[in-house]
Amino acid sequence: MTQSQIGLIGLGTMGAMLALNIAEKGFPIAVWNRTTSVTHQFKAEAGMLAPMITPCETLADLVAAIAKPRAIILMVPAGQAVDDQITALRPLLDKDDLIIDAGNALFHDTNRRSADAVNGPRFLGIGVSGGEEGARHGPAIMGGGARADWDRVAPILNAIAAKYKGQPCADFMGPAGAGHFVKAVHNGIEYADMQMIAEVYGVMRDGMGMAAVEIAATFHAWNKGPLQSYLIEISAEVAAATDTHSGTPMLDMILDRAGQKGTGRWTVIEAQHLAATIPAIEAAVMARNLSSRLEERLAGEAIFGAAPQALNGALSLAQLEQAMIAGKILCYAQGFALISAASKAFDWPMPLPEIARVWREGCIIRSSMLNDMATALTEDPARNLMFAPFFAGLLTTSHPALRQVVAAAALNGLPMPALASGLAWFDMMRTGRSTANMIQAQRDFFGAHGFERIDGLADKHGPWVGHGI
Ligand code: 6PG
Repeated sequence: MTQSQIGLIGLGTMGAMLALNIAEKGFPIAVWNRTTSVTHQFKAEAGMLAPMITPCETLADLVAAIAKPRAIILMVPAGQAVDDQITALRPLLDKDDLIIDAGNALFHDTNRRSADAVNGPRFLGIGVSGGEEGARHGPAIMGGGARADWDRVAPILNAIAAKYKGQPCADFMGPAGAGHFVKAVHNGIEYADMQMIAEVYGVMRDGMGMAAVEIAATFHAWNKGPLQSYLIEISAEVAAATDTHSGTPMLDMILDRAGQKGTGRWTVIEAQHLAATIPAIEAAVMARNLSSRLEERLAGEAIFGAAPQALNGALSLAQLEQAMIAGKILCYAQGFALISAASKAFDWPMPLPEIARVWREGCIIRSSMLNDMATALTEDPARNLMFAPFFAGLLTTSHPALRQVVAAAALNGLPMPALASGLAWFDMMRTGRSTANMIQAQRDFFGAHGFERIDGLADKHGPWVGHGI
């Protein structure tokens, strides 16, 4: 029997696709699934790749089938299942064997598992993006752990990753949970980008009365310009699809309650811990939460009536496209700023330009803008992306449209949480003299918290009546 170069546990959709991808790139792979019939069926259906696959009925068989030092990928649901699998594997493995968690783990869990692995077997946490198609033909891969462990499996991970002009979209992001942290931020950006697209879809559908085919054509056209991205591309496809049961547009038949597995929420919670400002991402998570409260929304509509919504020609499609361009830059800028804040706080030197490069292909947020973002972050990784000359230029030309779109939407009752909070962030980011002096005065008034004066004088309290002047 050929010794496998790597093992994989968990032949669900993502695990199965990843295993086929690995086999196709020429690496013999041993696989194990909790249900043995799934393992055998996987091999039986692998076609020409079957000779590269060793199906194993027990974990001991799996371990025996892999060349030493072993590397085993876990593709099991995030959380307890990962810990259970590590516990089951540990007694079977050698000190320098490597367990690789390729699921959507909470990065704090990856930190803990990395710390627990200090005496071996070793542990690597990798974020894998691109869904089923990506896993099969080339995902983006974000690794975290020890550099030496990454380097050991990098030839396999680089081979299976998506390629941007021949360059693998896989890289080492930093120690411990850095790979899963970057993946969480990826998902936060994914949430915001999806929400912004849903918001402009709402303007087209409800504000402009456009038919689904017209909306599809608009997204299709946008996908040829600066907005070129996977999410715009698939939005065109979903808007164009017809329901086979009713013959009406598929989108019209889908209940407006959005699901979520929690990665967007993790991103927002972490941003709060780090005092990083990611309002568009926060708004997107809020919108998903609110979408699931359908009964409450219906109760609200019964009391207040539905908002008018028709824009009566107040906006053009060109303005919408420009608003989307501004919104997209702002949500990516927020995501990168969060990674930058985490880099400092955790003392993880996460490589911002490389992150942009890894995201150029394979992942859900891949977009033509990411190449320019990689360039801007290479020029100055510490600078907020929105201040890089290229993006500052784009924002200068596009933010007036964002303003008009948000204003028209507000006047007509079209909810626009992500785009509106993106705009508020933009305006705050260019306000040299904000209104936080009022906050400081209030804090001093009720709690004698003190403030700094603009003239530098040492007096840190105001002349509030009864407050010790
Ligand atoms: C990816 C995606 C993926 C994500 C699911 C659903 O990068 O391939 O981000 O990892 O988990 O698409 O996520 P939600 O259920 O949270 O929407």
